[in-house]
Amino acid sequence: IPVEPFDYVVFGGTGDLAERKLLPALYHRQLAGQLTEPTRIIGASRTPMTDDEYRQVTLKALKEHLKAEELQEDELAKFLARVHYVGVDAKSDQGWDKLKALLDNAKDVVRAFYLAVSPSLFGDFADKIRDHKLITKSTRIVVEKPIGRDLASAQVLNDTIGRVFKEEQIFRIDHYLGKETVQNLMALRFANALYEPLWNSAHIDHVQISVAESVGLEGRVTYYDKAGALRDMVQNHILQLLCLVAMEAPHSMDAEGVRDEKLKVLRSLKPISEASVERLTVRGQYRAGASAGGAVKGYQEELGAPSDTETFVAIKAEINNWRWAGVPFYLRTGKRLATRMSEIVIAFKPIPHSIFGDAAGRIEANKLVIRLQPDEGVKQWLMIKDPGPGGMRLRHVSLDMSFAQAFEVRNPDAYERLLMDVIRSNQTLFMRRDEVEAAWKWVDPILKGWEEVGQKAQGYTSGTWGPSQAIALIERDGRTWHEND
Ligand code: BG6
Repeated sequence: IPVEPFDYVVFGGTGDLAERKLLPALYHRQLAGQLTEPTRIIGASRTPMTDDEYRQVTLKALKEHLKAEELQEDELAKFLARVHYVGVDAKSDQGWDKLKALLDNAKDVVRAFYLAVSPSLFGDFADKIRDHKLITKSTRIVVEKPIGRDLASAQVLNDTIGRVFKEEQIFRIDHYLGKETVQNLMALRFANALYEPLWNSAHIDHVQISVAESVGLEGRVTYYDKAGALRDMVQNHILQLLCLVAMEAPHSMDAEGVRDEKLKVLRSLKPISEASVERLTVRGQYRAGASAGGAVKGYQEELGAPSDTETFVAIKAEINNWRWAGVPFYLRTGKRLATRMSEIVIAFKPIPHSIFGDAAGRIEANKLVIRLQPDEGVKQWLMIKDPGPGGMRLRHVSLDMSFAQAFEVRNPDAYERLLMDVIRSNQTLFMRRDEVEAAWKWVDPILKGWEEVGQKAQGYTSGTWGPSQAIALIERDGRTWHEND
């Protein structure tokens, strides 16, 4: 469905995010027929550049990140004609009049400002946008993580943006919410009658959420070493996944309805205190090893300095509410792990009594495995009878639904959905201020606990599943991490 015409102003237009994600996503939306005239994309950054020079930057980015068959000449020409460029500086007034004049050519279209810049500049950009009177009735602002490095700094950042923009104009991106399979979690839970009656502590033994990456630092030295895996992945992506698994049914897909329910989950997370932090969390850091098909350096060698920053974290979390009391949520994420794989495992309770006797073999508890990436799909593990006349032998097998096999369509990148939702003014898949802050409220004591007790990052060999302590974290409870199958 086409969206109304818009001007997307991308501050940080020559940066990595713009080139890798935003420009390719907008191009894909054009291919899908979603862009209507007179839609424009306006790159803005400090580097002086003409429109034509920025069109070259855009073309190079598209060539690098799209498949050859997607680069059709007429579509490219149409796209590049939409692209403009203005040199602006967040710290001075230079260039802003030019931006205003350009935008004023199309005062009635939706106007979106995307801050693909360091959060330390969010306030400066917001002020300049206001001071130069660039805010119209249909203006929105889009910001990316990291939104703060703890609760206090997140509040300051939210206040800074909030002084210029109203909450309904602010779109805080967590790109996991734009992933097809993450949205599918809501479909699975709320468009099927099958699971919901079982979706509670009476029937679910525990939940696992794993986000494993095979990449390492990827050159993001300055940011990552100050952040670490807890801030980089858990505070946002993993807690958002946990919310979608654990929340009550919202009254509708309306933004406030969904976000109210997620907020309740975040507020119900059992605090992890200094006294329990060593028992409930594991920090790890990759050492040299083999990953993604070759030998790789350890984290500190890549960084070129000694560091205790965690590149892996595992947590046993609990949700203190009626639905989930007593059901552990085992969370883990890390870089340079054995493979790239994100999945959610709902492990059901075992049957109360077996009628089959020892010869039938072990009866495994049912599991629902939701594979977020790659090989997106859903598997329901069940016990069945092994075929053949040789008596009653049981086997654990999966009903398997692979999205690639079931649907022969391209899986759009998360940004494609999210960028268009900004234009449609649909905030369902964006984080509200109180959600971000509630997540930090749970994360802060873990960070503080680590510092207080001096909990060090345990080394793990690149290409493995993290430190042995992460395996002990779950096996101590008589459970195991779901194996990649
Ligand atoms: C980002 C993190 O938010 O998500 C990165 O900052 C991480 O460290 C990335 O690599 C993972 O995203 P995806 O979409 O590749 O799973």
